[in-house]
Parts: sequence; C-alpha cells; structure tokens
Amino acid sequence: MGSWPDDVGIVAIELTIPSLYVDQEELEKYDGVSSGKYTVGLGQKAMGVCTDREDVNSLCLTVVHKLLEKNHIDYSDIGRLEVGTETIIDKSKSVKSVLMQLFEPHGVTDIEGIDTTNACFGGTAALFNAISWVESSAWNGKYALVVAADIAVYAKGAARPTGGAGAVAMLIGPNAPLVFDRGLRAVHMRHVYDFYKPDLSSEYPVVDSKLSIQCYLSALDKCYQTYCEKASKFFQKKIDLSFFDAILFHTPYCKLVQKSLARLYLNDFYLASLEQKELKYPELKSLQNIVLEKTYFDKDVEKAVMNSSKELFSTKTSPSLLIASQVGNMYTPSLYGGLVSLLVSKNPAELAGKRVGLFSYGSGLASAFYSLKISEDGNNGTALQKLISNLTSVKINLHQRQKIEPQEFEKFMDIRQKSNHSAPYEPLGSIESFFPGTYYLTKIDEKYRRSYDRVPNAMNGHAH
Ligand code: ACO
Repeated sequence: MGSWPDDVGIVAIELTIPSLYVDQEELEKYDGVSSGKYTVGLGQKAMGVCTDREDVNSLCLTVVHKLLEKNHIDYSDIGRLEVGTETIIDKSKSVKSVLMQLFEPHGVTDIEGIDTTNACFGGTAALFNAISWVESSAWNGKYALVVAADIAVYAKGAARPTGGAGAVAMLIGPNAPLVFDRGLRAVHMRHVYDFYKPDLSSEYPVVDSKLSIQCYLSALDKCYQTYCEKASKFFQKKIDLSFFDAILFHTPYCKLVQKSLARLYLNDFYLASLEQKELKYPELKSLQNIVLEKTYFDKDVEKAVMNSSKELFSTKTSPSLLIASQVGNMYTPSLYGGLVSLLVSKNPAELAGKRVGLFSYGSGLASAFYSLKISEDGNNGTALQKLISNLTSVKINLHQRQKIEPQEFEKFMDIRQKSNHSAPYEPLGSIESFFPGTYYLTKIDEKYRRSYDRVPNAMNGHAH
C-alpha cells in the first residue's frame, strides 16, 4: 500500500477569547498585594473572564462554528473531531457529543473522536490523535478537527491572577501550511500531585505551587533533551536553540515562559562539550559544575541564564505571548494561543520556511516537545497566507474586549462558584459584551440539560 499522506499539519486555526477582562494592575491594588506582583512578577497584563453565561460547551461551539464558517469548510468535510479539556461539566457526556448539534442538521454524524483529559495537555493529546488518524488505515480522506478549550479559575489567593479562559480549534489534514515534523516528538510522563481537581463539586484545582513549577521545568529539561537527541540523529547535526526560529511554551504565566526559554539555554550549555562551553558560553563559566536537577529554584543560575538569553527570548518567544499576557492561562489552548500569537505577529513572507518548537505541559503530569515547519511559500493566494489572513479578528477582538472592575470580577467568580452544578439554573450574566457569533448558555433545566443560543453573526449581515 502507498505511503503516508504528505505534509500533515494545521490547515486552519481559530481562537476564541472571553469578551470581558480584568486589568492585572487594578487586581494588584484590589487584592492589596505589592505593586508589580502580577504585572512584573508574573508578567501578566490582563485576564480573560467568563460569567455564568459561558461554559466549556459554549466556548467550543463558538470556536468550531467560527472556524468552519470563516474557512468555508463544509460540515461533511470533517471525519474526526476531538476535544481536549480539563473543564469537566459532565462525568459521562463528552463535549464532542455536544458539538454534534452543529453537524446533525447537515446530516453529518459519521465523525470519530471524543474527549481527552489530562490538565493542560488534553489539547496536545487530541492533536497527536488527529495526526495519527490522518496517517492511519482508519483515515477516510477528510479533515480532523481538534478543539482545545478551558475556563481556568482558581480559589482566592496567590493562584487566582493566573486564571484565564479560551478555546482554539485546528483543522488537521495533508498538504498543510504548518507541517508537523514526523518522528520528532519527545514525551515525558510521570505520576505527581502538582495540580489536580479531585473535588468534582468545585471548579477549583488543588495546587502545590512550588511543585507545579518544578515539575514544569523538569519536564521541559527532559523533553528538550530527548527532542535534541532524536533531531540530531534525524538531521545528522547538533541541535540546539539555533535550530528553531520560534519556540512556544504552554504558558501558565508569561514570566515562567521567559524562565523556560532561559532554561533551554542552560540545557544547551549543559549539553555542550567543554570546548564549546568555553567558546560559546564564556559568561556561564561559573556554572561549569552545576547539577541540572538542583537548579530549578537557584536564583544565581536563573539570573545568569535569563541575562544571557534575553535577546533569544525577544526574537524566538516574546511574539508568541500576546494572547497569554492579555488573556492569561487558557489551560489546554494556551500553547496554541501562543501559535496564533506568533502567526499574527508577522506577515506570511516573514514566517515562511520557519521552524517552530513547541512545549506542551499538563500537570499530573504529561508533557511533550515537538516541532513544525511553516511552508516555504508565503505569497498571496497560498494556503499559508489564507490561514493567517483568517486570523485578523484576533487583534481586533483583543481591543474590543470590555474591561470590568476587580469587584465585578470577584462577583462573577462568586456566582460561578455558587451556581456550579446547579439545576435548574437560569444564568444571570449579560450577553451585551459578546462578540458576533458567540454561543452562550440560556438555561440548565431540571434534568441538567444545557441549552445554548448564538449572538447573530455580523458576517451573515445581521448587525449585533
Ligand atoms: N514586583 C515584582 N515582582 C514581584 C513582586 C513585586 N511587587 N512581588 C512578587 N514578585 C515576584 C516574586 O519575586 C516571584 O518572582 P520569581 O518567580 O522570579 O521568584 C514572582 O513575583 C511570584 O511571586 P511568589 O510570591 O514567588 O509566588 P506567588 O505566591 O505569587 O505564586 C504562582 C505564584 C506560584 C505562580 C501562583 O500564582 C500559582 O500557584 N499559580 C498556579 C500554578 C501554576 O501556574 N503553576 C505553573 C505550572 S502548572 C500549570 O500550568 C497550571
């Protein structure tokens, strides 16, 4: 039989963010913490907020409908649909099954896939499954659709400013403008209790903050080293940061990502020969004898590598932090919000031919480092140009969001907490701020069945 289909990757991508946000500087004042703690210490500018009008289903309905509509994809062109999420509102019924209400009216029900869960890694697992499906005997020649969506909310306290929400949908198929490098995935999985959600009656996780950071950084070390080893064999050359034009990370908060890029620089130094260490990294001479596993919270090491990698951070990673800095941790879509941010930061010709490294992390833990290559041709009319031009609403939506006061944010959080798993329930949140085409919850009936409506779409000629 023939070979695998060529250039399997992302054909189209779409993002949905909440229409409300809270300003992190205002939140610092409201929470009574020192000025700069959230904005400088965590590197966050704003945080996306969902009221009780939105849940994981509504976010997914919005992003899937928008992706298909904008890219003129027929419902019958989809052969697989899988959702990655850790926002569990039903212990049995999948979000995927809820999304089928978009397809059924078109007579389309022959769609594989259900939901995948492991903290922030679910979206990546769904993506890997979609790629495997396209490359398998089960493939029917249609597209796979991957949806990652979450509402990240924390109990009052230090973790609360690292919340956020959003959804990303990715259309996966052959001859794509963003092509995954085959055979170059590095995975690291372990059993740890760093962040988990054992209380099924609450939206809030149990977080061991320090352990979660240590696990994230150690998973990054492991995945990156395995990736470099595999890629070195594959390309028959030494692989280090210079191999990537951009490096994207799962982003719990932006400061951790800057530290993570610095961590990769430290790995490059650590893995270099003695001669290379002296030649390429003279400023790190004092770190010759470090034990990598003992440096996760070593401030001297961190300062040295942060300084040395400043420039690399601003060229290779900073452009991917637009959405994360403005919306916060979206959990499963976070890394893919980074990809969207990168794609809207440059024009197609500048992105053409570039290689992108991606680090995905989900507590508990599951993690992976993998890469993709952007197609060489960024000219008008190409698939790459089309993919990027369909993302013009991203920056517009960011600017069109409505700011709410921290008091109001806290009120919405209290309502979410009190109404969590209530039935029957009529949501209280206004629908005024929603972007055209947004789905929202209209009611939960006495049997816990959820109903949704959609804000008319300006694209269909209905003014909002
Ligand atoms: N100005 C500037 N910086 C400040 C200020 C200030 N006024 N105040 C504090 N800071 C700095 C601190 O020095 C610290 O910097 P460092 O990280 O370089 O040491 C940083 O701000 C954070 O402050 P801390 O007091 O150390 O931590 P805090 O108690 O605020 O908690 C944390 C931060 C751990 C990120 C918390 O928000 C949390 O638990 N979040 C959820 C868990 C998480 O995101 N983990 C990451 C991986 S797992 C995942 O993806 C969910």
